[in-house]
Amino acid sequence: MSLVSQNSELGEHDSQTLLSVNHLTVDYVSLDGHVRVLNDVSLAVKSGEVVGIVGESGSGKTTLGLAILGLLDTPPATIRTGEIVFEGKNLLKLSQNELAQIRGAQMSIVLQESVEALNPVYKVGFQLLEAFEAISKHEKTRYDPTNARNQVLKLLEELCISQPEAVLEKYPHELSGGMRKRVAIAMAIIQRPKLLVLDEPTTGLDAYVQSRLLKLLKQLNQKYKVTMIIITHDLPLATNICDRIYVMYAGRILEEGDAKRVLKLPLHPYTKALVSAVPTGFEDAPPLQVPPGEPPDLKRLPNGCKFNPRCPNKMKICEEKEPQLVQHGRGLVRCWLYDDKNT
Ligand SMILES: Nc1ncnc2c1ncn2[C@@H]1O[C@H](COP(=O)(O)OP(=O)(O)OP(=O)(O)O)[C@@H](O)[C@H]1O
Ligand SMILES: [Mg+2]
Repeated sequence: MSLVSQNSELGEHDSQTLLSVNHLTVDYVSLDGHVRVLNDVSLAVKSGEVVGIVGESGSGKTTLGLAILGLLDTPPATIRTGEIVFEGKNLLKLSQNELAQIRGAQMSIVLQESVEALNPVYKVGFQLLEAFEAISKHEKTRYDPTNARNQVLKLLEELCISQPEAVLEKYPHELSGGMRKRVAIAMAIIQRPKLLVLDEPTTGLDAYVQSRLLKLLKQLNQKYKVTMIIITHDLPLATNICDRIYVMYAGRILEEGDAKRVLKLPLHPYTKALVSAVPTGFEDAPPLQVPPGEPPDLKRLPNGCKFNPRCPNKMKICEEKEPQLVQHGRGLVRCWLYDDKNT
């Protein structure tokens, strides 16, 4: 469990910080104009932490993950302001070549659409073993093909793939979606990067496979000190594996805090709605469709707090002025209920 740093509001870097995102603003630009998808987003991830990014569909989670890895298509995406600092380097200032060197061994992502992680023209086994060989080269250890194959098979078994030998001989399009997702996760695990971003890692997997996967991810974090960012709309999943959680809404961070605290004592009315939608006693069950009301249209956001049209605690000021993200206890919250300036 980690303490929330005083710095995390600004995502500033200190010696333990592996990654910080500072004031990141991203628009998607099209012929009909532009839409702001990330608005002044700041976060910090310490070495060894598992950090969750939680929010409804369209809140900007994938855009944030892709931006961190330097994988946003620009255009249509345009980074308006901000920096993304990984091990002291602002990634937004690096060339594509320099970024490509950091991706893989340093930081890696399991994409939401896992089909994109695999090359359609090579068999799964060839791709997994190639990743293994690349990592041996990087770590300057001897590459032993038999040992590599055994380890790949073991990893696939741990991910509940029942006939791993057969899977190695298949092309990606011959696998089911859930199977492809697990192969993509295996690929990322083999690379054992310092920072692993997983975008909706459990989507399409049944409850049993989900719990095995979470166990494996926990091991990866504890044994190999892989720092992780888990992007998900599934709050129970996030609280199960993460140390800390950021809650996103309409491209903004609305709350940050220790994962257990966020689940037990959510501060923001939006987080409260997310938590109350989790069926009690069925921790593995998927969350209900929540919270009440329509998810926001990013092209027509309301004045003031962006959650105000759906908020049960709405006050006059909420429709007039957007609150700042302020410290509350050991966490952060963007809500007038917790801001002294509302008095
Ligand atoms: N390539 C694109 N061009 C234009 N708009 C885009 C593009 N990709 C995403 N968007 C828009 O950006 C917003 C945020 O999308 P994003 O995929 O980051 O959300 P998300 O939180 O990951 O959602 P989900 O939970 O459904 O995966 C959405 O309104 C989406 O329509
Ligand atoms: Mg997404």
